[in-house]
Amino acid sequence: MNQLKGKLIAFEGIDGAGKSTQIRRLSEWLQSQGIEDICVTAEPTKGYFGRQIREAKERLSPKIERQLFVDDRKEHLVSCILPAIARGAVVLTDRYFYSSIAYQGTRRDAFDHDPTFEELCALQDEIGEYNRLFAPEADILVYVRLDVDVALERMKKGRKSLDPFEKRQTLVDVANAFDRVAASHPHAIIVDGSQSPEDITDTIIRSIQAI
Ligand code: ADP
Ligand code: TYD
Repeated sequence: MNQLKGKLIAFEGIDGAGKSTQIRRLSEWLQSQGIEDICVTAEPTKGYFGRQIREAKERLSPKIERQLFVDDRKEHLVSCILPAIARGAVVLTDRYFYSSIAYQGTRRDAFDHDPTFEELCALQDEIGEYNRLFAPEADILVYVRLDVDVALERMKKGRKSLDPFEKRQTLVDVANAFDRVAASHPHAIIVDGSQSPEDITDTIIRSIQAI
């Protein structure tokens, strides 16, 4: 697993898919393999811009929301991800710019009319291109894929109210966008989030070994 040193692994999926659970389990496994420097991180961060995103009571305007995630990511890269890669850590991030493609790229209210599927795809592609100007591609994308209704059930169990990103139709659009993102990534590992946490981790480990 030494080949993983200095590599960036991004975990993506809709809210409640099981990303944090898998990051924790993969991190434990990496430790058991003797890897000492593991950087576990997340977006939105707890920094200046990330806090503004988290503290918003309702969804911000498409423009402002998109810019805040970009600002947060730039700060995240400079203060955390790039130094960790440079020192040879294995970096596991809970969300990265693929979330901007999927969430900001499905904002129908960014248009002055009801956008077609093609228009939404073009918006997603444009967000991807823009982020790639400053953010390196993740070496591996782990996409935890889960049915929206199962994810919503899981979230309801955990807490009373859902945050503004967690409306059903929004999540369906986001899930479809993640499918597209994963299909075009050179090293995407797509796992079935409805399996047991143990089985999902086994699949991730086997797929990483194969890559
Ligand atoms: P995310 O980070 O994608 O939002 P979490 O890892 O926090 O998701 O998991 C959301 C909820 O679902 C938590 O209550 C967690 O315990 C549960 N969970 C995670 N993975 C699974 C799984 N494979 N099967 C059933 N429940 C799971
Ligand atoms: P989330 O991972 O749920 O953070 P936490 O569990 O700490 O609340 O992220 C909050 C929301 O931010 C989530 O619904 C997805 C959204 N998001 C975007 O819309 N664009 C992005 O670029 C990122 C990183 C997240």
